[in-house]
Amino acid sequence: MKKLIVLTGAGISAESGISTFRDKDGLWEKHRIEDVATPQGWHANPKLVLDFYNQRRKQLLTCKPNGAHLALAKLEQYFDVHIITQNVDDLHERAGSSQILHLHGELKKVRSSMDESLIYDLDGWQLNLGDKCEKGSQLRPHIVWFGEMVPAIEQAADIMANADLVLIIGTSLNVYPAASLMHYAPSETPIYIIDPVQPNAAKDSKITHITQKAVEGMNQLLPLLIQQK
Ligand code: APR
Repeated sequence: MKKLIVLTGAGISAESGISTFRDKDGLWEKHRIEDVATPQGWHANPKLVLDFYNQRRKQLLTCKPNGAHLALAKLEQYFDVHIITQNVDDLHERAGSSQILHLHGELKKVRSSMDESLIYDLDGWQLNLGDKCEKGSQLRPHIVWFGEMVPAIEQAADIMANADLVLIIGTSLNVYPAASLMHYAPSETPIYIIDPVQPNAAKDSKITHITQKAVEGMNQLLPLLIQQK
């Protein structure tokens, strides 16, 4: 089977009711990145950070995968599909996709703040001050904050280097190193982007841009992709 490599961002979850970051009314209009998504913010006010992620986990409980997530799961019948996502929600998992790499962490997991190898599934949606790991340190969100390393980036680049087809859905391609991944695909690999807005980093003539939201864009692209299986 041909390898279809899919890079997704917040836009694919927008139609499930989850805010993106940089659109109008996005998360970064309501919160300062430095307060809630950096190690400095965590050290300065861990309760504010815990509350920020608790609210996003609580909201996620009310959301479900949309047609775009489900279409990607369906494509596993025709391709060896690898999803590389910047998203921390679990909608790709709940849609049935089976090969998912989270570049920026996972909302439903927490980890030790002193030993990053100690990662735990979180029961429920609340992580509070005083919730400790087995070594006695405060548990933190299992999220890659700005300024932190992206441990999965090399694995992601290796996956992209074997792509026969690349699909990019719902990312402004503003954040590196994720935004550089498409350049790891072999030079002749067809690249499709689904996004109502054309990301600046993708104004390359070789890229086919489908100016649609994720659900409608996948409805249009699915038959075209299946023809290339
Ligand atoms: N369907 C498809 N794309 C959409 C939709 C939709 N319904 N709604 C919005 N978009 C597009 C926007 O046009 C934009 O290009 O989704 C993209 C969202 O961009 P961002 O909000 O910047 O989200 P993302 O690219 O995922 O951000 C990357 O930044 O803050 C960090 O760690 C965070 O993983 C995140 C990273």
